[in-house]
Amino acid sequence: MSEQVSTRSAQIYERALKSMPGGVSRNTVLRKPHPLYVVKGEGARITDVEGVERIDFANNMASLIHGHAHPEVVAAVTEQLQKGTAFAEGTEAEVEFAELILSRNDNFEKIRFVNSGTEAIMSCLKASRAFTGRPKVAKVEGAYHGQYDYAEVSQNPTPVNWGDVDRPISVPVAKGTPPNALADVIVIPFNDIERALALLDQHKGEIACVLMDLMPHRVGLKPADPEFVRAIREWTRADGALLVLDEVITFRSCFGGAEDWYDLDPDLTALGKFIGGGFPVGAITGRADVMSVMDPLVPVVQFPHSGTFSANPVTMTAGLITMKLFDQGAIDHVNGLATRMREGIEAAIRETGITACVTGGGSLLRLHMRAEPPRNYREAFWNDEQRSHLTGLIDHLLNEGFTVVNTCTAVMSTAHTEADVDSFVAAMRRGFEKIAAE
Ligand SMILES: Cc1ncc(COP(=O)(O)O)c(C=O)c1O
Repeated sequence: MSEQVSTRSAQIYERALKSMPGGVSRNTVLRKPHPLYVVKGEGARITDVEGVERIDFANNMASLIHGHAHPEVVAAVTEQLQKGTAFAEGTEAEVEFAELILSRNDNFEKIRFVNSGTEAIMSCLKASRAFTGRPKVAKVEGAYHGQYDYAEVSQNPTPVNWGDVDRPISVPVAKGTPPNALADVIVIPFNDIERALALLDQHKGEIACVLMDLMPHRVGLKPADPEFVRAIREWTRADGALLVLDEVITFRSCFGGAEDWYDLDPDLTALGKFIGGGFPVGAITGRADVMSVMDPLVPVVQFPHSGTFSANPVTMTAGLITMKLFDQGAIDHVNGLATRMREGIEAAIRETGITACVTGGGSLLRLHMRAEPPRNYREAFWNDEQRSHLTGLIDHLLNEGFTVVNTCTAVMSTAHTEADVDSFVAAMRRGFEKIAAE
């Protein structure tokens, strides 16, 4: 099978290399020796150009909660496509979708839609600056929040450049990042109250917001300690800074998002990914007074905000159906599948005797080649041996008919069944046996 995979896909990739840097428009699809090219997705399964079908546990990087081409979403979007895809006017679909998202959490008083998680986070940071009149933001080391200059600082530092744990360095992602952007981002360690507060204290009165993901994927996909979350919340309140939650991924965890887990009341929440029903989306939601910095009906708007494709009726329609279908029963289903998978993998780890562990929460899980769950980004960082085992495992899973996110993270959708989960666990166990035999 792998021979065949390389043939057709290799040809396409060869062409792709001539037109795009690296042959791709987003680095996450890259894998060696070439990306997988898909022709079709239906429910939990995708089919590649070789005609090979796989069970998809990547779900476009956690952006598809009902799998591929859900019939109700397809029907509604098809109807909308025939009526037009984007207008320089509003549509009622936008208003209805806004009402629906606001109804899911009391923290959500007002909302605006954008086209990506990156844009949602950027808008949250700009709104926080406009509201507080302060220039700086704080974020957790290693956390991914998209590509805005400030949000991406220290997204992927390495032992060579991350600096002392008491004073993490603001490491740029892109060459040429303005030094002022780096200076205006305070990097704090995850789940380390003492160090995080000491760092924040050095910038009292200057920080517009602390940006936080309650289960940051790249930091290890471990839910934040409730005490850490509480300490950060109290610090922001005492200081007059805002708390901005990145729920672009975690919103799938509970009816009102992961903030419900913690009974937390952030000032702003960024949403994205699955709320668009498979179409590009982002949203900024939260306190009405903070959101009002975007209000153009006042004499001087503090944060003018627009976007050509924001709230286009195709995304709004797909999102509306998707979120209506993502009711408590659906949430229990996907979360139950993840628990079943986690328990199955943990049993396989014990029985094969390999050094590994599983983190995650809600409908997501991630495998680590270490005995204990990482507590922060530095512990989650792969050494060469871990990298080799994990990339080998991802290839093994692909050859066995499964896709996962390239960190060995599995994402459930309502289209998955317990049988899908069990066959995935069996394939993972065979991968562990190979590692144990090495
Ligand atoms: C937690 C989190 N925030 C923000 C983003 C950025 O979203 P987008 O890729 O839609 O710009 C991502 C994307 O993976 C994410 O995982």
